[in-house]
Amino acid sequence: MKIGILGGTGPAGSALAARLADIGYDVVIGSRSEERAKEKVDELLEQWPGRTLAIEAGDNAAAASADVVVVATPWDGATQTAATVREQLAGKVVISMANALTRIGKEFQPLVPPRGSVAASIQAVVPDCKVVGAFHHVPAKELGDLDHPIETDVLICSDHEEATALTIDIVQAIPNMRPLDAGELSQSTPIESFTSVLLQLNVRYKTRVAVKFNGLPDSLTGLPKKPPRASVAVDRDGQGNGAT
Ligand SMILES: NC(=O)c1ccc[n+]([C@@H]2O[C@H](COP(=O)([O-])OP(=O)(O)OC[C@H]3O[C@@H](n4cnc5c(N)ncnc54)[C@H](OP(=O)(O)O)[C@@H]3O)[C@@H](O)[C@H]2O)c1
Repeated sequence: MKIGILGGTGPAGSALAARLADIGYDVVIGSRSEERAKEKVDELLEQWPGRTLAIEAGDNAAAASADVVVVATPWDGATQTAATVREQLAGKVVISMANALTRIGKEFQPLVPPRGSVAASIQAVVPDCKVVGAFHHVPAKELGDLDHPIETDVLICSDHEEATALTIDIVQAIPNMRPLDAGELSQSTPIESFTSVLLQLNVRYKTRVAVKFNGLPDSLTGLPKKPPRASVAVDRDGQGNGAT
């Protein structure tokens, strides 16, 4: 399977590219400039000479032509970038790892983009792709260090069950990462916002934290078994009135 990364020249996208290539995926690093993508690919191949990494360079359109596409641009460029490759994304699983954040002084603050999250904004501008939120909380430095696995959970959310299942398979293939199905795409609002908390902890404690949840079964594979979805009436205070 080929995975393309929009904005793959940045720390997050290039780290994910290296990690995915290391476990056997073919990866295309995309960029607004093919030249920059080539430089990044050369840099990665030089950094990991003993490994066979199937990483190629392209513009964002080339990356969007892959089987699965990751959006790894800053939040304010994500929707527009996805829109420019709308045709290539049609019908595909599109994984958004972008977080809408800003820094005010020493404090990271979450921002609320249109539709509540970057992932939902992408879904809105490219309605015929299947957007999944994932990898928001995985620090790029550790992700890109192929000599060490990262012990972390990855929260995944989507309105498309098959897209969640495919993303679970990808995350599960990365050593020591545990994929967790966090529900529908509306969960990308708190998932993206929560990143500001993690960054704040990193600043205060001079570290890089990773997310790991307690209380889950030891062995988790694939999608969790769910009861059939019931529709729930919600009153004006946001309280559920029971299944209908
Ligand atoms: N850094 C992390 O540890 C980390 C971890 C998890 C998630 N994330 C999320 O992943 C995303 C990427 O993070 P990053 O640190 O790699 O960001 P970044 O370095 O600021 O940007 C990544 C790439 O996006 C492209 N880009 C920049 N501005 C753009 C725009 N306005 N429109 C389209 N493309 C643009 C650039 O590539 P070209 O100039 O080559 O096109 C850049 O190299 C962010 O949304 C971040 O919240 C980051």
